[in-house]
Amino acid sequence: MPASVWPAIDGIAYGGDYNPEQWPREVWRDDVRLMREAGVNLVSVGIFSWALIETSEGVFDFAWLDEIIGLLHENGIAVDLGTPTASPPAWFFAAHPDARAVNRDGVVMGFGSRGMASHSAPAYRDAAVRIAATLAERYADHPGVVMWHVHNEYGVPVGEDYSAHSQRAWRIWLQEKYGSLEALNAAWGTAFWGQHYGQWEHVGVPAAAPSVVNPAQRLDFARFTDSQLRACFVAERDAIRRFSSLPVTTNFMANQHHGCDLWAWAREVDIVSDDHYLWAADTEGEIGLSIAADLSRSVGGGAPWILMEHSTSAVNWQPRNVAKRPGEMARNSLAHLGRGADGILFFQWRAGRSGAEKFHSAMLPHAGADSRVFREVVDLGAKLDRLGEVRGARVQADVAILWDFESFWAQDLEWRPSEDVSHDERIRAFYERLWRDNITVDFALPGHDLSGYRLVIAPAQYLLRQADADNLNRYVENGGTLVVSFFSAVVDENDAVHPGGFGAPLEPALGVRIEEHLPLRAGDTTSISFGGDELRADVWHEHLVLTDAEARATYVDGPGAGMPAVTRKRHGRGTGWYISTRPDAAGLAAILTEVYADAGLVPLDAPAGLEVVRRAGETDDFVVVINHATTDARLALDGVDLVTGRTVAGTLEVCAGDVAVVRAPRTAPGSGR
Ligand code: GAL
Repeated sequence: MPASVWPAIDGIAYGGDYNPEQWPREVWRDDVRLMREAGVNLVSVGIFSWALIETSEGVFDFAWLDEIIGLLHENGIAVDLGTPTASPPAWFFAAHPDARAVNRDGVVMGFGSRGMASHSAPAYRDAAVRIAATLAERYADHPGVVMWHVHNEYGVPVGEDYSAHSQRAWRIWLQEKYGSLEALNAAWGTAFWGQHYGQWEHVGVPAAAPSVVNPAQRLDFARFTDSQLRACFVAERDAIRRFSSLPVTTNFMANQHHGCDLWAWAREVDIVSDDHYLWAADTEGEIGLSIAADLSRSVGGGAPWILMEHSTSAVNWQPRNVAKRPGEMARNSLAHLGRGADGILFFQWRAGRSGAEKFHSAMLPHAGADSRVFREVVDLGAKLDRLGEVRGARVQADVAILWDFESFWAQDLEWRPSEDVSHDERIRAFYERLWRDNITVDFALPGHDLSGYRLVIAPAQYLLRQADADNLNRYVENGGTLVVSFFSAVVDENDAVHPGGFGAPLEPALGVRIEEHLPLRAGDTTSISFGGDELRADVWHEHLVLTDAEARATYVDGPGAGMPAVTRKRHGRGTGWYISTRPDAAGLAAILTEVYADAGLVPLDAPAGLEVVRRAGETDDFVVVINHATTDARLALDGVDLVTGRTVAGTLEVCAGDVAVVRAPRTAPGSGR
């Protein structure tokens, strides 16, 4: 991905999805006037407009699109032009009924909603490439268009497809992957339950079956689905590139949809962009937000990215769509910016009167411009306008948390030892502690070069390839600190248990053998003794055998009673920790305090609820400070608050719920950031 590719916009990009086709012409003028008032400089247009651009197969109507792009351009608002392929028109499905996607239960997906056709249907691929190329040819040189927004959230709502087209493509994909049926039979372990295949024609998609379907087959189907979706993106992107050299993106859903392997996707886009929505039931949604933002940055190799969608207030698709409180939208936006976003966009500009999303908030709500939300939108635009110099500054992290979509796909299949074990929950638990300590985190794959990190945490690396385990062992040997949580390194790339048993590939770094998993009953809690303290733990125990590690904590009660629960091994110049249970938050904090000491990490001295992230610019740092608490806070800092223009001499004061972005002298890496 070329690091310098960025749309031609001054400062931080600000705006949202704009759907002018849902409104009469007179509203457009009003929209543009209010966009200017809010400081909007980028809008995404055309994402769901296929039926109104290509009115029947091969027949195009560009009049309205020309007009709105022209109007926006005259007013200094750039366009991120969508390819509308997430929602093919009625005429497409009427002409190609076989291109409809089919779900795992064999239900053929109907029209009247959104969602692409079968990703493997040739008619869909052809039509998608045609509309993308036609748009690119027409608007490539339009001065108002600055980037391309291909599709919308690949994999949502249609990911896995069980149609006949998918079936055909799946066999070809398998033939390319395995070369021979013998190799496929071996990888899938088809000797089990008599699933051996003698002919390629017999290998089917893993549709609903009487009992659990072969997990290796399903894991491969997840890989196949990801690769088909990516092929759709690449086909559109390449069609665009025939005519245009503008940056091309597609909006990810970082930690809110696991169907796409974003590490692979990020290599295909010019700019990473992400959509993030708070989960209202989570009273600390800002932590999930930070995970999404850190992941968006990490998959793009640290390059600045665009927050393509978030909400000004409530969404409309959760059980209880809680409105954001005053100031929350700005805190959310600045948190993304602090973690590397150089564009802050929303779904959507103007609340739609009709359709499924009419209860979704917007920059311009149903209540109009004389509203709290619009006033906050204008205020945020003014804030971002003062932050242009932050653009391009890089976030640096001393800690990496492993995040591996492929491992999630495998772990999420049926018949695992306990339904209480969740990768999302474990990652959140570890991340949350680091977040509260204001220790910035990157996400990484186990095969990445991890040598720049003081600490690497594997909260949920169920699937671990031997080569990646070797990489982790080497990381420790060369001086790194590694923490591995339970139910990691269990299987290889075919969801087969590692020879030598659970966890065997990491035995060099951890010095333990896992003899047996000992999951607990629902609601059971137990204790482990750690130093002089008793820590609470639940969900999982293990029968651990130490081969070359010290027991740092022991099970007090429960099925593991008397056995080691948490271990540490000095390996080479580094340290490998293993946590074989699920400590509660206080317990995890106690363990991580020792881990930090091994890794030479120091939590930032800041009051609870103060989120502090540092971006390193060319000569200065930019410290983004967000006060999530209901009390005013202070932080030791020198510089200039770019939001207020005030000099900060020694102490920054941040009112309850407020934000600050301080241009501060450069801090050396590793000094408590
Ligand atoms: C996103 C989607 C948007 C809109 C939004 C509502 O996932 O890309 O089109 O539906 O959700 O929150």
